[in-house]
Amino acid sequence: MEKIQILDKRFKLFIKNSDLMTAVDYVAQKLNSDYASCDEPPIMLCILNGSLMFTSEVMQRIDFDTELATMKVSSYSGTKSNGKLEVIMAPTSDVKGRDVIIVEDIVDTGLTIFETKKELYRLGAHEVKVCTMLYKPEKFEACKEQAYKENGEEYIEPEYVAMEIPNDFIVGFGLDYDNLGRNYKDIYVLDE
Ligand code: IMP
Ligand code: MG
Repeated sequence: MEKIQILDKRFKLFIKNSDLMTAVDYVAQKLNSDYASCDEPPIMLCILNGSLMFTSEVMQRIDFDTELATMKVSSYSGTKSNGKLEVIMAPTSDVKGRDVIIVEDIVDTGLTIFETKKELYRLGAHEVKVCTMLYKPEKFEACKEQAYKENGEEYIEPEYVAMEIPNDFIVGFGLDYDNLGRNYKDIYVLDE
């Protein structure tokens, strides 16, 4: 489908599923080489709900031992860099002493991964890295600077990125607009 309509908004095709799968191949390869010789199986932590489909694709390409867990969070911000994290569902595995790979659908302002990492370290995780399907570097860099200036917080870029995208609002392959649109296998961008 070239165009879709969700509620009041029109979206147009942006990333075809086949291109997305090539990007997933690339990121999974990187994980496979980096974690090939890890002593203890890392936890792949799927951040619900958006990352469900991406996590499934990554998992099918992983060839080291890994434990799958899920967590549900929601971040909200007053000013952009002064946000909070609401843990809606705690990690389904004990992360104490473990290496954790956060698997996210998208990194936008960076607030969600920053706060989720903090929470996992608070729970005793040994090392936390981030694997994301999509990354908006421009937005991230701006928010990173702001967070540092305002709160002295040090945002770290996601270590594993399947695809970088501009600052547009997108839906599909797990990503939603008002909880709809997650079901599409391609990714769509707002058609203005
Ligand atoms: P961040 O905390 O600003 O990095 O944003 C992270 C969360 O916001 C993601 O996990 C998504 O749920 C949501 N989000 C950010 N950008 C988009 C988008 O373009 N479409 C749909 N959801 C988005
Ligand atoms: Mg999300």
